[in-house]
Order: sequence, then C-alpha cells, then structure tokens
Amino acid sequence: MFKWFGRSDKEKEVLSPNGNIKAIFILKSGRISYVVYKNDKIVIKQSSLGFNVCGEAALVNNFKLVRTQMKRHSETVELQWGEDHFIDNTYTEATFYLTEDKLPKRIMTFRIRVFNNAVAFRYEIPPQPKFQRISIKDELTEFKVDVNSTVWKIPAYQPDRYEYNYERSSVYDLKQSVHTPLTIRTPNGCYMAIHEAALYDYGSMTIKLDANNSLATDITPLSDGTKAHVDLPFQTPWRLIMLADSAIELTANRTMYALNDPPIKDFSWVHTLKFIGIWWAMYVGEWTWAPGDRHGATTEHAKQYIDAAVRLGISGLLIEGWNEGWEGDWLENGVNNKFTIATSDFDLEDVASYARRNHIEIVGHHETVGFIDNYERQLEAAYNYYAANGIHYIKTGYAGSMMLINGRREYHHSQLGVRHYQKTVELAAKKHICLDIHEPIKGTGIERTWPNLLSREGARGQEYEGGALSPSHACFLPYTRLLAGGMDYTSGIFDLMNSVKRMATTLARQIAYFATIYSGMQMAADRPFMYEDRFPKVFNFIRDVPTNFERTIPLLGEIGEYYIVARKDRESEDWYVGGVTNESPRRAHISLDFLDEGPYKATVYSDSDDAHYRDNPFGVNIIEKTVSRNDSLDIYIAPGGGFAIELKRM
Ligand code: NOJ
Repeated sequence: MFKWFGRSDKEKEVLSPNGNIKAIFILKSGRISYVVYKNDKIVIKQSSLGFNVCGEAALVNNFKLVRTQMKRHSETVELQWGEDHFIDNTYTEATFYLTEDKLPKRIMTFRIRVFNNAVAFRYEIPPQPKFQRISIKDELTEFKVDVNSTVWKIPAYQPDRYEYNYERSSVYDLKQSVHTPLTIRTPNGCYMAIHEAALYDYGSMTIKLDANNSLATDITPLSDGTKAHVDLPFQTPWRLIMLADSAIELTANRTMYALNDPPIKDFSWVHTLKFIGIWWAMYVGEWTWAPGDRHGATTEHAKQYIDAAVRLGISGLLIEGWNEGWEGDWLENGVNNKFTIATSDFDLEDVASYARRNHIEIVGHHETVGFIDNYERQLEAAYNYYAANGIHYIKTGYAGSMMLINGRREYHHSQLGVRHYQKTVELAAKKHICLDIHEPIKGTGIERTWPNLLSREGARGQEYEGGALSPSHACFLPYTRLLAGGMDYTSGIFDLMNSVKRMATTLARQIAYFATIYSGMQMAADRPFMYEDRFPKVFNFIRDVPTNFERTIPLLGEIGEYYIVARKDRESEDWYVGGVTNESPRRAHISLDFLDEGPYKATVYSDSDDAHYRDNPFGVNIIEKTVSRNDSLDIYIAPGGGFAIELKRM
C-alpha cells in the first residue's frame, strides 16, 4: 500500500521475501529517491535518483507516478560453472512507471528488486516520441551512507586501472572517485558492497563523495565529456547494494549473477581450465616476450612445456610472445601488433597440432596494449586463426593507461571500453573460444549470460610481487574485488626467493590461493621445474584442486586480515579448504561440520611453526589423516602464510 502525502507525493515500501530488508521508494515534489533498511536499521539514507541529459532538461524533476507493479519471484538459478552450482534468485520487485507532468513529458521506469541479502535497482528509458537517442551528462544516483562508515577502496581514473592496493579509509576520503565493488561497514554493524550488475554499453560506475556528503555515482566519462550515448529503449546496469551482517557473509553474496540473464545459447562446449604458461620465465628475466636469444615462445619451448603439462596433469598451456609486435618497447609499439603473424622461431600450426595430439589445450594470447583500433581491425581474422588451429582459449591483455578507440584516448571502463570488451566476448562465443581478460572491465556477472568469459584479472595479481604486494593484499581481495567474480591471480609461484621477484608469501599460501581466489581459468604460474623437481608433493594440491565447484562456504575472516573458505568439487564428493592471513600469524580452528556423512582422507598443507614470508617461506608441513564431519582441525598460519586442505571422500 502507498502512503499518500498531499496530492501526488507517495512512499512505497518494498520488503524482501523474508522481511529483513526494506527499500522505500519516495516520490516527493516531483523528485524520486529511495531509502534502505536492514533489520530495521537504516543503511542507505534518503538518496536521490535521476539523470542529467545533454541538451535537455534534467530527468529529475516533475515526475508523477502513472502506475506501479509489484511481484514476487522465486527461482533457483543454475550456473554453468563457478563457485556455486545453484544460486537463489528470490526477490520482491516493484516497478514504478513515471512520467514528467510538464513538457517534454518524458517517461521513465524505475525498477527495484529487494532480495533477502541485497537491493538492486535500475532505470529503464523506453522509446518516446521526442527522442530516440540520448546523451547522458550525469547519472545522479546517490548511495547516502552514514559518513562515519569505514570503506575499503581502490582509486578510479589512475594509470594502472584497477591495479592498486586496497585501503581502509573513511567516507571523507572518497572525494576522489573509487571503483566498485566498494565495501563499506556502517557504524551500526552492517556490511555492504555497492556495485553494479549487467554492465553493457554504458560507462562503468565509480563512486565519489559529493558536496552534500553523499556517495554519488560518477559514471566513467567518454573523451567528449559525456557519460554515454544511448539508443532507446535503454536500461542502466543494475545498481546493486549487497548486504550482510559480517564481512565473511558478504563474500557469499551471489546477487550479481541473479541479476544477469541466463545464457542466450548453448555453451556446453565451455569448460573451466587449469593451465601453465610460457610466462613467469619472462617476469624473472630468463626469457623474453620479444624474439632474440632468450625468446620464450619458440616452437621448441612450447613443445617442452606441453610435455611438462602432460607429466604434471595440467590440461592447458598459455603461450605469450608468439606473435609479431613485441620488439623494442612493446608498450609503445603495441599499435603495430600482428595477431595472425608468428615470429620466425614459432610455428603455431605445429605447436597446436602437437598440443592436440597430447590432449593439451593451448591458451592463445593477444596483447592489445589498449590499441583497440588496431585490434578490432584484426579481431575476426585473429579469432579465426586460433579457431582454425583448434585453440579454444585466449588470454587478452590491455596494458597501458588508456585505450585508443576511434583515434581517441578513452578509459578502459568507459562506455566505449565496455563495448569493446563485449564485442570480444560475443565474437569469441561465436568461434567457441573462452576468454581470460587481463586489464579487463570489472566483473558485473555477465559471465552468467556469456559463460565463455571464464576469467579476468582486474586487480593487482602476482606479477606485482617483488615489492608491490603485501601479505594483506590477498586478504582484502575476497571482500572487495572478488565480489565482482573470479580472478586470474596467476597463483602457484613456488620460486619464492627469486631475486627479481621476491614473493611476500609462504609456499603453503601459494597453493591456498587455488581455493581462496576462484578463477574459471586458473593458472599454475611458475615454471614446470619448480613443480616437478623442487616441490612435487606441494604441487599435488594444484594438480588435484578443481576449477569448478558445486558449493562454496566461506568459513571465517575479516577484511584485510584473513579469509578461510571451503569448496565442494562439482564432479565428486571431495572438498577443498584454503586460508590466508596478512602479516599476523594466527591459529585457525576449523570445524569440519560442512562435510557430508562418511570418512574423508584429509591432506593438510600448512606453514611450519617457524615459517615466515620474509625469511623462511618454504617451511611447509604435509600431513594426512582420516576425519569426519564431527572433527575439527587446528591449523597454524604463519605471517604472510596460508594453508590448503584436500578432503577426499573415502
Ligand atoms: C599484463 C598482463 O596482466 C600480464 O599477464 C601479461 O603477461 C602482460 N600484460 C603482457 O601481455
């Protein structure tokens, strides 16, 4: 029921199916706004909605409500791959059909869904007589949280895109825009993450504190100063507010996927993948991307790595630096990259057929350096070339601070950037190719619709080790970046003391990542000899851990401090547990009550008592024991350490 105030002012409550979350839509003096409560505590204070439109009056005043529709929806959604096989999509939806009561009498729909653990809303602008296309000057959506809240942020509009260390700060530190997911703890103990779902053909949302001390939407601009040019009908991505009572509960929120559409066609050809790569040898300076004496991507090296993959029981091999374009300063020269021409010491057809004979999937590579015009000219031919050679996976890269699109410098996360990434996903789908996008657009759950988008980077990964990563980084990720979906963190570096890339982790932690950081394409990033010759027993965990899970249960954790998660394999009755800590050691008491009936053989890989990421990173204990769901395990995690447990149903 509406509450009426005067002639046209209204308030409408929308309650989550379990009644714990309440959103109120308000229409007052022609302006629309909303409020959100969780367990009767206010979490989003009255916040404005609307748009500034180029060349027209703002779409913000003079609204009148024409009609409202309410519905309940309850559904279990099946995901083709991921951290959970099934997710809940139960919500109460209210749709408010609005019109301006003054000229030009434009119409707009505001749709809001209230879940048991989230609120999401979007604007829909139908076609209308006066205009078929609009240019958005600003989206005016606010998220007015208590200014005494704590936030965890990375800055937006910086040269390294999303690749920054997460910082815990106050709302007042948000005067510069930050990326989403933006994780927030309110003084009344509510954890939330502001994010978006289903981002298509629109600038990505960043968040900024405005002059009224409200968190406000700052849509990534285009080089012409507008935020987006859109054809009608148009709908914004969902503005998503995930809500939880604890940090660890927040990490289980899958509403982002619920808000995306089911796949539009058959993607049964898509399979998650674990792979090694001609890659880390370049980072530690043994090999080079560019041709020359130490060229990594030669036919010979590729065949050796294929043989190693077979011996290691890993199904894929990434090959970087096989194509023309890496000579000299590849960042500067990337404008000339050729995606169908191999260097003279690399024979793609030969390598691909050798891989096929050995049942190894090649992960091809396209480093665009953000030169989108150059890449798009070759896109169809480049994907055809891989497809013709039976290559079903491509890692793409967009290094560089800006993209070059239509001859202009644009942000990766602008509307034109978003459009480009989508073009690659759709073309790849046509060619039965899966993507792992580095320097990507952030995840907004579109992989539910496009399951061939198996992974992305989009945060600092292990290539930043060697000084720029602290042990707390991977303890921030589950509560921030990973709320936006899986990440290719390039885990599994065992050469911890390498003088070029000294890792701020213990050895056990390197395998813990395979459980704590989910990725549909999971890289075992070190060189094969580190696995075969140096630490074969520790490597067994990497070999055995799945890349597709039936169920994920976050167990324990605090933002930036530690994170412990249990995941059940989708193909068997086995469980895998991983945990990481920051610089502080801790003892984790893990109850195994998440297990099903029956004894399990547990293999526990943990830091030794004297392990330390700084001076004794290799100290690892491996023990085996029989356990059941009535048992618990006490595990020591060293400073910068971690642990991994395999639980095999006996
Ligand atoms: C940055 C990517 O994140 C990294 O994985 C890749 O090796 C380089 N670009 C070169 O393409």
